[in-house]
Amino acid sequence: MNAVIVFPKSFLFGTATSSHQIEGNNKWNDWWYYEQIGKLPYKSGKACNHWELYKEDISLMHSLGYDGYRFSIEWSRIFPKENEIDENALNRYLEIIELLVKSGITPNVTLHHFTSPIWFMQRGGFAKEENLKYWEQYVETVAGILKDVKLVATFNEPMVYVMMGYLTAYWPPFVKSPFKAFKVAANLLKAHALAYEILSSRLKVGIVKNIPIMLAASYMERDKKAAEKADNLFNWNFLDAIWSGKLKGVLSTYTVPESDVDFIGVNYYTASEVKYSWNPIKFFFEAKLADLSERKTQMGWSVYPEGIYKAITAVSRYEKPMYITENGIATLDDEWRKEFVVQHLQYVQKAIDEGYDVRGYFYWSFMDNYEWKEGFEPRFGLIEIDYKTYERKPRESAYVYGEIAQKKEISE
Ligand code: NOJ
Repeated sequence: MNAVIVFPKSFLFGTATSSHQIEGNNKWNDWWYYEQIGKLPYKSGKACNHWELYKEDISLMHSLGYDGYRFSIEWSRIFPKENEIDENALNRYLEIIELLVKSGITPNVTLHHFTSPIWFMQRGGFAKEENLKYWEQYVETVAGILKDVKLVATFNEPMVYVMMGYLTAYWPPFVKSPFKAFKVAANLLKAHALAYEILSSRLKVGIVKNIPIMLAASYMERDKKAAEKADNLFNWNFLDAIWSGKLKGVLSTYTVPESDVDFIGVNYYTASEVKYSWNPIKFFFEAKLADLSERKTQMGWSVYPEGIYKAITAVSRYEKPMYITENGIATLDDEWRKEFVVQHLQYVQKAIDEGYDVRGYFYWSFMDNYEWKEGFEPRFGLIEIDYKTYERKPRESAYVYGEIAQKKEISE
């Protein structure tokens, strides 16, 4: 076969990272705090030392031919203490943005990627509505450095943040309360609306949502219903509420401001298998990772490329431009990574061909990094990091992806 898969010339091929996972020494955020007191199994430490090596990283991206880069601004660097702005940190992010633009790389900036300042968490974080004034102050402060940025996302994976932090208590702040969880979700929607109001006259403001494909465990009606319920609760209720102003929780409906987004970022990795449960505490369903491929990634996830197509077609219900803001594989087998990228991009291109408005793809991740509770073992990077020397070594997949990015096509 000599088929060529062609993408639109304007399609962005980028990579993605987040502040806490790569920068190093993020001493002022909640994750760092819990890492030090032993509530998390691994310390992020110097991470990839990107805070010092950012120039090298951007020039590497440029030389590889990538034309997009999604990263996040660390709120706790801008406001290490309540009401105290660190101008140096602000300038560093501005420099990063300017360097990217100069290198022909479109920046896609996320304002909140799981971490918050320690002082904000100590005040109750997003569980308290009165704390949104601090978020507003942060957004207004960074607005000034975002002039050359076309794409800004308010929150990364809000429902993952809610679920991990307030429902399963697997992540900071380790709270287990469905009541609080939905309150936090409602407050994130309020925070999104505030940021949209501040930024949208000048920039394209979106939100990044993880879309796991919810598959019913069997053909039984009750399992199908359970999968639908999980899908609504995790995937759609949150997004629906942006426009409807009503967040349907499990116990009640929360009123939030009606708002908008200019684009939706879709993070896609794998699928879940959902079955009915008698247990009301579990909201009458049980979800686990679906078993769809013999081989599992270092995260234990199946590889399910058609899922990316399903995610795109499902999210198209909102009739907004979409970007794949994350998709990637944790593996030491780089051949497998190459295959993974091509298979997923084929499905993205199929969707574009059918008229779905997908405008870019950001591979997770540019380089190996701190995978939260899983530490440094999972290797998601196109670039390998040597954590002793901080040397960056592009894997073969980094070049293969670069060629796709430059040609805007995949030749088989
Ligand atoms: C989604 C998250 O946004 C990111 O922080 C994480 O590293 C990747 N998924 C991989 O798990």
